[in-house]
Amino acid sequence: MSIDWLQPPAEGEPAEGEVWLFLARLDPAPARLQALRAFLSPREEQRALSFATDALRGHWVAARGMLREIVGRAQDCPPAEVAFQYGAHGKPFVDGLHFNVSHSGDYALYAISPDLEVGVDVELPRIRRTDALARRFFAPGEQERLFALDEPARAVAFFKLWTCKEAFLKATGEGLSRSLRSYEINPTQGCVLWAKGADATRWSVHPLDPPAPYEAALVSEGTPSIRRYLHGTPKTIK
Ligand SMILES: CC(C)(COP(=O)(O)OP(=O)(O)OC[C@H]1O[C@@H](n2cnc3c(N)ncnc32)[C@H](O)[C@@H]1OP(=O)(O)O)[C@@H](O)C(=O)NCCC(=O)NCCS
Repeated sequence: MSIDWLQPPAEGEPAEGEVWLFLARLDPAPARLQALRAFLSPREEQRALSFATDALRGHWVAARGMLREIVGRAQDCPPAEVAFQYGAHGKPFVDGLHFNVSHSGDYALYAISPDLEVGVDVELPRIRRTDALARRFFAPGEQERLFALDEPARAVAFFKLWTCKEAFLKATGEGLSRSLRSYEINPTQGCVLWAKGADATRWSVHPLDPPAPYEAALVSEGTPSIRRYLHGTPKTIK
């Protein structure tokens, strides 16, 4: 079933126990892109300059500028004044708000919560050798469930699971310092079944429904109430 992504309320922010998700397109009009770029810190501007093409630079600038808008609004602070800090494996954070961001193709996905740690992943499926990747990177139980499916259901399930697994790595902040085979996720049950050296019951798993053919997922601490919003675009997306 497809769920609407709605316009956010004009005011307000997530309450305790809530996660607000924002989906944004990364191809804004030139004037909007320029406005977003003006929010960047000198370090971010340096990173923007390092991209090889204008298209890649534009996508990254849009994603980071909108992250500043979303975090700034929740913190009641101008976007340019948001002060990011970075965890041991590169996860950005700010004081007083949990957030995470992912970008792929033409979309960025953001999650914010006042009290729950979050990780998100959005992917534009474009890899063909999904069976080989599953054998290499997925835990045995994940492989068993995946290879019980016929094509093309298996290819769809691969990306659903992949985004859930990435969102877990991003929720814990470990990134790829944790092996993809060191934990098992069941997207249908919405849970982490086990995770080496960690408390799997701390997390809930939420496959999302971005516009096709994208796949996306949220992993959150606890069992949040989730609201889905659009950022920076006037239309609803089903
Ligand atoms: C963080 C990581 C897990 C995700 O990276 P990714 O999927 O390439 O990129 P995403 O767009 O989803 O996320 C990038 C954002 O996550 C955030 N991030 C960076 N390090 C992070 C970490 N350790 N934890 C959580 N979030 C992190 C940043 O905001 C980053 O944004 P930026 O690139 O604009 O600075 C990264 O370690 C990585 O390199 N992943 C590669 C994925 C892969 O090869 N997977 C194989 C699966 S079969």
